[in-house]
Amino acid sequence: MTTDLIEGFLAAIPLPAVMVDQTERFIAINSGAEALLGQGIQGRHFATILRQPSVATAIEACLHDKQSRTARHLSNDGAQDTTYTVTLRYVPGVGAVGGGAVLACFDDITEREQASQMRRDFVGNVSHELRTPLTALIGFIETLRGPARDDAAARDRFLTIMEGEASRMNRLVGDLLSLNRVESEERVRPKEKVDLTGLLSSTLKTLAPVAEARSSAMTLEAPEDTVSVTGDPDQLRQVFLNLVENAVKYGGDQVRVVLTHTDRDPSVRAPAARIQVIDNGPGIAPIHLPRLTERFYRADSHRSREMGGTGLGLAIVKHIINRHRGRLRVESDLGEGSVFTVILPD
Ligand SMILES: Nc1ncnc2c1ncn2[C@@H]1O[C@H](COP(=O)(O)OP(=O)(O)OP(=O)(O)O)[C@@H](O)[C@H]1O
Ligand SMILES: [Mg+2]
Repeated sequence: MTTDLIEGFLAAIPLPAVMVDQTERFIAINSGAEALLGQGIQGRHFATILRQPSVATAIEACLHDKQSRTARHLSNDGAQDTTYTVTLRYVPGVGAVGGGAVLACFDDITEREQASQMRRDFVGNVSHELRTPLTALIGFIETLRGPARDDAAARDRFLTIMEGEASRMNRLVGDLLSLNRVESEERVRPKEKVDLTGLLSSTLKTLAPVAEARSSAMTLEAPEDTVSVTGDPDQLRQVFLNLVENAVKYGGDQVRVVLTHTDRDPSVRAPAARIQVIDNGPGIAPIHLPRLTERFYRADSHRSREMGGTGLGLAIVKHIINRHRGRLRVESDLGEGSVFTVILPD
């Protein structure tokens, strides 16, 4: 086979691919492989480019015994670490003096690995979150059967705690289902017209008892004319319930909700409503900010659990806002309070 033919074949392979012959040099390399391994490596000894022992050893062995193999190649695309599965196949009759060559194809499995890691983490997190209240429940049941059997006062106290733990599990399952639903609808654009002014004022009413219990003052600042967007009213309600509830629970004693409308918001490049939930609380340290919308991520996990939080609220918020093609921005610093900004295109 001529070099042209080999290069033609390699160019047709939809993966980065190289060919190494018995002289242990690259005899052909396609553009995907050039992007991965570097330009101008044609004719170079493969071991000067593929330095990772797993790939180098496999190529050497394949040249020698002609057996197919796979190896792992680790790289970095500038933004993140990447992982490739390299498949090696012996191709007879090509290369120097027709001694055959090894065809190596690089399959990028980074996303698959990340997805399966996420799935494992998620199952681990859910089990952990459920196990804690379950362990408490089992412990109290044993105590009620045994030492506290005839102690009416203790029984009452324990039942109250058990009720709290059971409702925490219930909330967790509810949030998980809600997350699932929101995620599965994420690509379906909402169609209804939602009156944000009314929605926000009813959200504040719903949360009034929570704010009162924590002696926190909530205010709504909105333009005189009603502001509306296209959206899903139940989901948007869920967004503001969580943001305002967070501000009341973790924030300070002043919570301001500010609604404005602009004819052109730069981040969504369209007319949009902007809702800011501003508190004067302890704030959130910068290291937590990028991870806040991850499932189960809590900036202050002790405090959040104490408040009965599941750590899923902002993950749900993020998915709902994505569905509305909106943006969520969090600005905060320790001791400075927090500002959660939601941008929703009209
Ligand atoms: N306004 C705020 N001030 C300080 N910390 C906040 C604020 N809002 C959120 N947080 C932090 O972000 C974390 C994640 O919030 P999120 O709403 O996702 O979970 P949660 O409130 O703990 O649980 P859930 O919303 O499911 O009841 C909280 O645990 C808290 O540590
Ligand atoms: Mg919350």
